[in-house]
This record gives sequence, C-alpha cells and structure tokens, in this order.
Amino acid sequence: MYIVTLAGSPKSVSRSSSLLRYVSQRLHAESIQVKSYSLSDFNQDALLHGDFNHPSIKAFQDDVERADGLVIATPVYKASISGVLKIILDVLGQDALAHKVILPLASGGSVAHLLALDYALKPVLSAMKAQEILSGVFAQDQQIQVQEHNVVLDADLKERLDWAVGQFQYVLRCRRSAGQANQDTLNVHPITY
Ligand SMILES: Cc1cc2nc3c(=O)[nH]c(=O)nc-3n(C[C@H](O)[C@H](O)[C@H](O)COP(=O)(O)O)c2cc1C
Repeated sequence: MYIVTLAGSPKSVSRSSSLLRYVSQRLHAESIQVKSYSLSDFNQDALLHGDFNHPSIKAFQDDVERADGLVIATPVYKASISGVLKIILDVLGQDALAHKVILPLASGGSVAHLLALDYALKPVLSAMKAQEILSGVFAQDQQIQVQEHNVVLDADLKERLDWAVGQFQYVLRCRRSAGQANQDTLNVHPITY
C-alpha cells in the first residue's frame, strides 16, 4: 500500500501539518509506505505559474498516480482551505484522484468553521474524481499545543485521529480485496466472443 500526504499550510511549524505527522507515524507503524509533500518540496515559481512539466511537479503527479490513498491537511484560512493547498491541487490533472481514498484533516481557530472540510475541500476533491472521501478530522487550535521544537496533540484529538486512521486502512483494504476479487472473476470466467 502506498500513501501520499499533502500539507496545505505555508508554515514550517504548523498545527495542521502536525495532524499529518501523527497520521503518518500511525501508518508507518502498520508498515504502510508513506510519501510526504509540503510546499517546500516544490519549485515555488513553477507552482505559482502552473508549470505542469517542472520536475518537482512531475514527481508529485507521479507519486499521486501511484498512490492508493492520500491524507490531505489544511489550515482553515478565511473560512476555507489554504491557498497553498489549492495551488498544489491545481497542478494535478482533473481526474488525478480517480480510484483514490482520501482522508482530509483540518485545523482551525474556531468551531464556527468546523465544516470547512465539507463545504470547501470536499467539492474540490470530488471534482478531481476522488473515489471515496472519508469524513475526516477537524482540530481546534487549543487541542494542538505548539512548543519550541515540538507540537503536542491532546488525548481526545489523538483518539479521533486513531479512529480515522483505522477507517482509512479499512477502506483501503476493502478496495484492495474487491479489486482482487474482480480480477479473479475475470481470470476464472474469461469472456469469449
Ligand atoms: C490568514 C489566516 C486566516 C485564518 N482564518 C481562519 C478562519 O477563517 N477560521 C478559523 O477557524 N481559523 C482561521 N485561522 C486560524 C487557523 O486556521 C489556525 O490557527 C490553524 O490551526 C493554523 O494552521 P497551520 O499552523 O497549519 O497554518 C486563520 C489563520 C490565518 C493565519
């Protein structure tokens, strides 16, 4: 299984990216291969100008194509997803998320924007033909303590993230066995004309 994570915050010390780090560690612990992307992995000029053929963008497109699923984190900025996340998603093809399972994560300062994942991120992912978008996790800032070199998540948040990771793995496994079953059916009952 191969998973791509995508951090939508422009900051290097970031609350939303700490959610992603926690989820990545959980996936690693299950021996799942994870490739992480954030703004610093791209040539920023190429990203801003939508240079689809730049090597840093090509590498990202190839990794997404290879991935079974993506974990995407965004801070809530101005009641929506971050601009950084949107420009990164914009360099992917229109159908780039077809056949992918997506686990969305967000952090925000106010519960008023608890539904930002639903009204701002999910429509974009659907437009990119994501096969299955899980309900995701929204974290409030006070659940994520930023220390000098470290970010600490509170227990309730960890519990919700653990549940979301379990659900993500479950859906990925179901899809894999359904794909295998379809393949077996085709092998056992070849259609002849
Ligand atoms: C430019 C900007 C706009 C923000 N707008 C909102 C907002 O509309 N709603 C909200 O709940 N939080 C808002 N916040 C707070 C962030 O969503 C919150 O602090 C988040 O955890 C930051 O994540 P990051 O550290 O990964 O960037 C805003 C923060 C910034 C810097």
